[in-house]
Amino acid sequence: MEIIIQATQQAANEVAARIVARLLHEKPNAVLGLATGSTPLGLYQALIGMNLDWSQVTTFNLDEYIGLPREHPQSYHSFMWENLFQHVNIAKENVHIPDGNAEDIPKFCAAYEDQIRTAGGIDLQVLGIGTDGHIGFNEPTSSLASRTRIKTLTQQTCKDNARFFGSEEAVPKHVITMGIGTIMEARQNLLLAFGDNKSSAIAEAVEGPITSINPASALQMHPLVKVCLDDPAASKLQRADYYRWVYDNKPAWQIF
Ligand code: GLP
Repeated sequence: MEIIIQATQQAANEVAARIVARLLHEKPNAVLGLATGSTPLGLYQALIGMNLDWSQVTTFNLDEYIGLPREHPQSYHSFMWENLFQHVNIAKENVHIPDGNAEDIPKFCAAYEDQIRTAGGIDLQVLGIGTDGHIGFNEPTSSLASRTRIKTLTQQTCKDNARFFGSEEAVPKHVITMGIGTIMEARQNLLLAFGDNKSSAIAEAVEGPITSINPASALQMHPLVKVCLDDPAASKLQRADYYRWVYDNKPAWQIF
């Protein structure tokens, strides 16, 4: 894992945006895995500001609530169009977001995995992290080999996401999410976390044991992961000074 700690969220987002932009320059038809939540908003704004060419890009989103109408303001469909897709020149047919209203959910999930495979696999997956260490909606004790499937949210995640829905009860309890096994097959993972409330989840994921109790810790087994943090999210990392030292002493060809 490469841990990139920046003083501010904005600075961390700028680094993350440069990583994504470099990929799109090198591979204009890249396949991106995308995330929702408040965390990636700054990254998406930075990418929009870069005026990149998205015409050949394909995207797959990590997850979606089950049972919310697609047009619901809190559906991840609405989120992605509002915060990214309507601002870039992506082709509508290249956008893939799990269908939370699919009649046959297991069948839909298997087809989603097939679509990712047919597209050539995900080149770069953007990830946030839940306060309980979830990635996508893979809650603690998710199988580290899991594939796209239905999950039931933890009460903590319902609490965390109540701010988007007005109340905890209004948060859908079921979701479709790519599995940890699916995420582990992306060629590169880019995990973002900001704020002190993510510091414990990040410390466990980066420096703790690999355990399904903190699903993000599975990324320790992935060959190419960059973790972009602001100072507060990095505040519980025991080796933070070393990670800063590594970043400050990167060989020129590794700097993005
Ligand atoms: C959400 C999403 C995750 C996200 C996480 C953190 O519910 N399903 O993809 O990374 O929980 O959310 P936020 O970025 O709003 O803190």
